Amino acid sequence: MIKNPRVAIVGATGAVGVEILSCLESRNFPLASLKLLASRRSAGKQVAFRGEMLTVEELTKDSFQDVDIALFSAGGSISLEYGPIAAAAGAVVVDNSSAFRQDADVPLVVPEINGDAAFNHPRNIIANPNCTTIITLMALYPLHLKFGLKMVVASSYQAVSGSGQHGIAELESQVRAIVNGHPVEMSTYPRQIAFNVLPQIDKFTDTGYTKEELKMLNEGRKIMGLPELKVTCTCVRVPVYRSHSISCVAQFEKPVDVEAAKACFAGMPGVKLMDDPAANVWPTPLDSTNGDDCLVGRIRKDLAIDNALNLWVVGDQVRKGAALNAVQIAELLVNGK
Ligand code: A2P
Repeated sequence: MIKNPRVAIVGATGAVGVEILSCLESRNFPLASLKLLASRRSAGKQVAFRGEMLTVEELTKDSFQDVDIALFSAGGSISLEYGPIAAAAGAVVVDNSSAFRQDADVPLVVPEINGDAAFNHPRNIIANPNCTTIITLMALYPLHLKFGLKMVVASSYQAVSGSGQHGIAELESQVRAIVNGHPVEMSTYPRQIAFNVLPQIDKFTDTGYTKEELKMLNEGRKIMGLPELKVTCTCVRVPVYRSHSISCVAQFEKPVDVEAAKACFAGMPGVKLMDDPAANVWPTPLDSTNGDDCLVGRIRKDLAIDNALNLWVVGDQVRKGAALNAVQIAELLVNGK
């Protein structure tokens, strides 16, 4: 246990970094000190935290001498370069990038699902899963406990804030350009995102899947300890500022029952059922934005596939999909088993 840790946030000025600060503040995370690290461009910037002004420092190889927990969210290349440096300096790294997620000696943790795995981190590195994967598993895991998960077919509807501040800025500027009759400029996305949907998130691999889709295929198996789980997925960017939505068909070992499925969510922290179609009650990205809970609705028996349920889950991907999950992992390190 690391009581009252000295914490650093790497990427403190980014979309996820800012949310990590907000989670530390709202959850009264016990801190001996807090160091905000970003690129040279942000060094000297002042950030308010618990009524004080903190100064952002430039990330260097010497940034981690006095740090117990380092929360990384500055992209994969920064994690690959500085994660091992922080770990060697004695900090436990909670890394939000995909750099270490599939390494056998790096736990991949969703606290509500496999929190115990966080205590076995031989390299001083713990990986925070992909945002879409976290939100999807928050809905599927309670069902897995009841019915035994066998196969998942998913389609995601992912918000632009998943691409960081640049994604938000691009959607905003394209909407402005279009309503004012100006030409649309693109830099973050290969095609226009405003008033459109793009069936590509991250780069394509030679499998025909994107890297984001492969994360969905692989990470759930590791987190739930189901190496044989069959998953297939198409990840889609939609012109929504915040919160990802996922449509899932999940097939189980045992026969399913909708009421029993709904009852599974009663005991699961971090998930809420929002499922009354007759009253137009189903979750949307706006319902989950800035909230901690993943919201599940549209639960129904699949009419084509045996022992299968359809469901729709939304979650704030900056929060539970990234910052909150990372802070919850840090809380495990503070509080112990
Ligand atoms: P900065 O704001 O100084 O560029 P986002 O995902 O929202 O784009 O945020 C990325 C985060 O990663 C920001 O805090 C950004 O800092 C940080 N970052 C990017 N490049 C570097 C770098 N070379 N060294 C340290 N931090 C970096």
